[in-house]
Amino acid sequence: MIFRQLFEPLSSTYTYLLGCEETVASIIIDPVIDAVDRELALLAQLQLRLEYSVDTHVHADHITGALVLKQKVGSKIAAPAIERLPCVDVGLEDSRAFRLGSVELQPMHTPGHTDGHFAYVCGGRAFTGDALLIDGCGRTDFQNGDSTALYRSVRERLFALPDDCLIYPGHDYNQRRVSTVAQERARNPRLGGDRTLDDFVRLMAELNLPYPKFIDHAVPGNRRCGVCPEEMPEKLDVYCKQMEHSPQG
Ligand SMILES: [Fe+2]
Repeated sequence: MIFRQLFEPLSSTYTYLLGCEETVASIIIDPVIDAVDRELALLAQLQLRLEYSVDTHVHADHITGALVLKQKVGSKIAAPAIERLPCVDVGLEDSRAFRLGSVELQPMHTPGHTDGHFAYVCGGRAFTGDALLIDGCGRTDFQNGDSTALYRSVRERLFALPDDCLIYPGHDYNQRRVSTVAQERARNPRLGGDRTLDDFVRLMAELNLPYPKFIDHAVPGNRRCGVCPEEMPEKLDVYCKQMEHSPQG
């Protein structure tokens, strides 16, 4: 499998490209609208055909590139069926494998950061979105977030994956790129070790995080699979402008 991890610096989002070497078909997980041109340049460089974009959840901090990719190269949009987004071509369901050539994703419903959040397991890799981050996890105070649900999603499902399964998160704010199930299970400061459900619920309730600055634009835009709002405060324009990128991607 051809595999690339791409970083979008504005929202510190990781986007993942998974390609089948035989059929040259590919899937992109969690593309960001302002990085679409970079992703298309990389696809061209790797001579891959983009068949699907797949989102882990309805993001609050950036707008998905799913719809723009569809408009530019005809890729289909896949997302958790539970979100019931009318713009989605393929609704993904828990434990129902999604295959494209030699690439097979196992969708795993992992609610808690949002109620419709999914992780995707592909061979020895797990794309954990914002359910499980390296040494952290996504917040649980918006979009029907639920700390109890997140604790169970991570401890009962993601931590049940094999020790050496690689964890590829949806974000990282400290230049970390990959972890493993064993590492997060042992030392994730929020969810690992002997952290109890009560500890975790209390910890999340006491975070007192600021209101996300882009959420009021991002969520409605993402429920339309990636539409930038017509009227957006000037300082937020940058979320919808194409980022600078090198020709090498
Ligand atoms: Fe998120």
